[in-house]
Amino acid sequence: MRFFPVKRASCVKGEILLLGDKSIACRSIIISAISCGKTTVENFPPNKDCLYAIKTFKNLGIKITQNQKVKTITVFGNGLCGLKKPKGPIFVGDSGTTLRLTLGVLAGQNFAVTLTAGKSLSGRHMLRVTAPLRMMGVEISARRTPKTKNLTPNTKFEEYPPITIRGGNLKPITYRMPVASAQVKSAILLAGLYAKGKTCVIERVKSRDHTERMLRLFRASIKVNDNAIIIKGKKELVSPGRIFIPGDISSAGFFMVLGTILPNSRILIKDINLNPSRIGIIKVLKRMGSDIQVSGNSAVGFEPRGDIIIKSSKLKSTIIKKKEIPSLIDELPILMVAACFAKGESVFEGVGELRIKETDRIRSMSENLRKMGADIRVLKTLKSEKIIIQGGRSLIGATVKSFGDHRTAMSMVVAGLAAEGKTRIDNITCINKSFPNFLSLLKTIIH
Ligand code: S3P
Repeated sequence: MRFFPVKRASCVKGEILLLGDKSIACRSIIISAISCGKTTVENFPPNKDCLYAIKTFKNLGIKITQNQKVKTITVFGNGLCGLKKPKGPIFVGDSGTTLRLTLGVLAGQNFAVTLTAGKSLSGRHMLRVTAPLRMMGVEISARRTPKTKNLTPNTKFEEYPPITIRGGNLKPITYRMPVASAQVKSAILLAGLYAKGKTCVIERVKSRDHTERMLRLFRASIKVNDNAIIIKGKKELVSPGRIFIPGDISSAGFFMVLGTILPNSRILIKDINLNPSRIGIIKVLKRMGSDIQVSGNSAVGFEPRGDIIIKSSKLKSTIIKKKEIPSLIDELPILMVAACFAKGESVFEGVGELRIKETDRIRSMSENLRKMGADIRVLKTLKSEKIIIQGGRSLIGATVKSFGDHRTAMSMVVAGLAAEGKTRIDNITCINKSFPNFLSLLKTIIH
């Protein structure tokens, strides 16, 4: 195996421009595909997940052209019911957003499709999305595994890909979300486009609202009343013609933490998404004492965006509450690195969802950071889990693992750049899932 070597950097300085947000980009393909008209998507990120989203909709008969030079794609929408039955099963790679959101759209089509997935996504829970779609009247079968070892008539099952879905006449539902999940919420809202009447999703804690914003842009009949989102079905979507995807705040997170923990550093990140449902990392880092300035015109377009400047600062510990988790769910690995450099005890509450991401990120991050000398405890109760990090002493380079997970890999690169001595990371090609130019951008700012 070839290990990726990382050594301590003295500082980071410069300006970076990030490709479009992965969540918004996936939605741009799906929603453009089922709208009327042609949509040109600018600042499209050619990461693996988004390329699988393109492939999935090409397999469903949608014409999509890519112009890599100018980072745009053009999607030729075919209306709500314009998808075509594919020749065989569609492989969606490891893109959870593509799989779960596409199920919502397939729920309204008049044919059966089987979606298969890569190794990591094949092990991820799907009942959270298949259950509400079944309530709407869709036929779905999936690989099933009992939740407990002893089988009884009451045994509950979890479901995993491959999934076969046969859409049809949908009935609207009112659904109270049992877990905060933007992917599940989005699948129900997309299915709601096909139901006769009003579909309502009620969230206890708000998750990212990119689907709601984009559906509004495409002139869906959608309303948000506090924590309830109501969508009226059977109305065609109309393409706005052109959309620009602001930079990915989850990708920016690695640079925010690096710029904070390395001395004498200053990074300007231009034009990133500042959607209030995604800026948890900025709020938490500021609370920890990070010098982050946000500026820009957040009123432009359907998604707020702006520039941020990060300067090195001394961090102090913080408590991240359960209700904050959806706004920074994908940034928890890199925030764990930040907490190692913060004076005092940081607590991350209600982090159970981290166990079922691309890998078990509580395990991947705590095992790796402990190898580098971090003091990390994980406390599990029946209802929830918390991570406690006693920070403030320096990390020491070690041989660590990506666990095949892009965000673990990038977090460990950042930890290695700020640690004493040398760090080696096993396979880091998984970074391509979300951020193929991560290492080349890093090189431009490391001194
Ligand atoms: C995403 C939602 C989140 C997030 C994932 C992308 C989305 O997942 O972790 O990386 O695009 O809607 P959940 O919906 O499972 O919380």
